[in-house]
Amino acid sequence: MNQLLAKEVQQKYIETFKVEPLLIFSPGRINIIGEHTDYNGGFVFPAAVNKGIVAGLAKSTSGNCTAIALDLVSTVKFDLDNLKPSKEGSWENYVFGVIAEIQNRNKVVGNFNIVCKGDIPGGAGMSSSAALENSVVFGLNKLFDLGLTKKEMILISQKAEHNYVGVKCGIMDQYASMFGIENNALLLDCRTIESVPYKINFKEYQLLLINTNVKHSLSDSAYNDRRSVCENIAALLNVETLRDATENDLEKIIDKVTPENYQKALYVIQEIARTQKAAKAIQQNDLETLGALIYASHNGLQHQFKVSCNELDFLVNQAKKNKHVLGARMMGGGFGGCTINLIKRTAIESFANATSKAYENKFNKACSVYFIELSDGTRLID
Ligand code: GLA
Repeated sequence: MNQLLAKEVQQKYIETFKVEPLLIFSPGRINIIGEHTDYNGGFVFPAAVNKGIVAGLAKSTSGNCTAIALDLVSTVKFDLDNLKPSKEGSWENYVFGVIAEIQNRNKVVGNFNIVCKGDIPGGAGMSSSAALENSVVFGLNKLFDLGLTKKEMILISQKAEHNYVGVKCGIMDQYASMFGIENNALLLDCRTIESVPYKINFKEYQLLLINTNVKHSLSDSAYNDRRSVCENIAALLNVETLRDATENDLEKIIDKVTPENYQKALYVIQEIARTQKAAKAIQQNDLETLGALIYASHNGLQHQFKVSCNELDFLVNQAKKNKHVLGARMMGGGFGGCTINLIKRTAIESFANATSKAYENKFNKACSVYFIELSDGTRLID
């Protein structure tokens, strides 16, 4: 966690509100494999990272609430009795949504002020949104003694995103951010919301992120659209989610769906299987197999599920040309954000330099390289 960030939030809080806040760190996440499988009841393989959001919170005595996002230089005042979503795309909807969902559970939140700042850019596919939601719910739970379990907290965060932000997300991001374990990735079964930790030590290899620094504007509506395609096909198959379907089942209804949607459902069924295979490969330290599964995941996201974009595909192709990269794929919802690369440590510098140059030549803008450490989940900062 970035200590400077915590100091900055603390100082700003004291300067503005004249009291010492509770400080919370809530991490972003990576995902090794298992994309768009969470809302299909399948498996995902995320890990919390050492980058995320720091939030400072304390009770307010002024009769209303104030939220400040330092990185956006934005201050919003609000009233707990009159919460409604701000215009689409507003950061405060994550805060309002969490409060509203807590209120829906008949828990009482009093007036409070919050200051937050993060060190992951929005749109990187690293879940800055789940980090923010979790920091708010975790902070409010402490501040007002709400007695919420971590599981309840992540469900509140997820509902906030559904109802106030308008993205019908799965549970992966909120889960990984809340339940992360240092040096571990979590094989999460999204049907039971239970996970098994896997120690991640790839010896001479490591995970490296490269951010395209783009987020294409249709990503939210495309996300919701993918989700409803999956739900409709599950309904046709008479199963609760695509987790419960096989490739054979799908083939039986081939005449009832468009070829495009058939491929989307097929991708989900195959990606759930790939994620389980990846867990085995990690257990056996078989990085070649893991890498091949990661490339196959990208292939499916690009050609079957169709949530990639030129910038992501370009970065993955660069990786494929380098024998020291065992696997690479887009990460998160898609249409921009980062690729995740499984790469030999000694080759990182030359790969990063060559890729950055090629990316700049091709798109006339820079990509960014991120080194990450796998970290613990949402927590109080001492
Ligand atoms: C976003 C959502 C997650 C998940 C991923 C795709 O990050 O918030 O729930 O669906 O996309 O795997």
